[in-house]
Amino acid sequence: MLARVRPPRRLRGSPRLPGDKSISHRALILGAVADGESVIEGLASGQDVLSTARCLQALGVQIKDGRVAGVGLGGLHPASGALDCGNSGTSMRLLAGLLAGQSFVSELVGDASLSRRPMARVVDPLLEMGAVASHPPLRVGGGGGLRGGEHRLAVASAQVKSALLLAGLYAHGDTVVIEPAPTRDHTELMLRAMGVELEIGPGRVRMTPPSSLHPLRIQIPGDLSAAAFWLVAAGIHPQSEIDLLGVGVNPTRSRLLDVLAALGADLGRENMRQVGSEAVADLRPRGRLAAPGLQLGADEVAALIDEMPILAVAATCLPGGSRISGAGELRNKESDRLRAMSLGLGAMGAAIEETPDGWVIEGGSGLHGARVDAMGDHRVAMALAIAALVAEGETEIDGAECVDISYPGFWEELDRLCS
Ligand code: S3P
Repeated sequence: MLARVRPPRRLRGSPRLPGDKSISHRALILGAVADGESVIEGLASGQDVLSTARCLQALGVQIKDGRVAGVGLGGLHPASGALDCGNSGTSMRLLAGLLAGQSFVSELVGDASLSRRPMARVVDPLLEMGAVASHPPLRVGGGGGLRGGEHRLAVASAQVKSALLLAGLYAHGDTVVIEPAPTRDHTELMLRAMGVELEIGPGRVRMTPPSSLHPLRIQIPGDLSAAAFWLVAAGIHPQSEIDLLGVGVNPTRSRLLDVLAALGADLGRENMRQVGSEAVADLRPRGRLAAPGLQLGADEVAALIDEMPILAVAATCLPGGSRISGAGELRNKESDRLRAMSLGLGAMGAAIEETPDGWVIEGGSGLHGARVDAMGDHRVAMALAIAALVAEGETEIDGAECVDISYPGFWEELDRLCS
């Protein structure tokens, strides 16, 4: 699908947000092995979360209308074929952890993009736990018992941390994961809500394996990584009035808000509340980003990993120079996001240079419409659409349908905001 975007005179409205993707995957997976029925409200409806649901159904779990009939830690059944994770790295890595502890072998496959993404980061520590695991193709499970132990991760990855905690549910002894930089802690918070004993510290978690998991009753907050597109739109468009309701602002996820505030945005954070284990707020961003430029290094990137494409857009609209480094992980996402964004924004007239681990961006020169390619990557498609809101003339985005991975309805919400 080709999306066409023209700069509107003003942006006004309250776009509906999808349920948080990370929390949705975890609610399905943990609900599947809980003792009894979990009830999940506001589950993300994107393709990635559907991939997780389908894999769990193939393993014998009944899932319907946000209700997950948990089979207990020992109740999964072997699937009749390979488990298809589609485009979803979270499905593949988290399920690899869960399935490493099963008495049967599972094979996990994905689309061309997912098949290119690194899996050694999850397979290697699973092998250390005593799992039977190999790749490619990714096969896990069918061995004896797993051992807990201490894992120092080489890359800051919530997916790898979560995979090890899921495997640790089946291990003898505690599992400890130490990260080079703190990453999102949704798995830890959910496990604790299900009765598991955990010590959670910044960049470090210790889990004692439980004998069972209590089912969940959970309301999934709006996805901050989806809200990020509208927050930046509000910050770069001269006339905007956007309200975002019920956004997840878990402190391990909300670094974007600090960065935008440091760039001069008034985020209008209101109605802060706790919904289950997660912090939620309404955001009414007002005023334009005003700082001269943006400097981000490795220590900040882990907490902003999914927001980097839209932050590149923000940087092109600041008056001065920006430098982002320590972001080499972006090359391992649904596309090589360093390349995809420098090609897309470059075609729109931005002065953006790709470095081995980031970008150097000289803002202030203005963007113009162009034909650009989403590279099959939902976040690239949405980031370029937001850039198009302040570009002169029309921008055409090829492969626009990929937004369905995380944000079905994105194009309709964009139309509504512009009209
Ligand atoms: C996610 C973790 C991040 C993120 C992805 C979702 C998760 O991936 O990019 O969109 O739900 O745990 P990494 O763990 O590979 O950084």
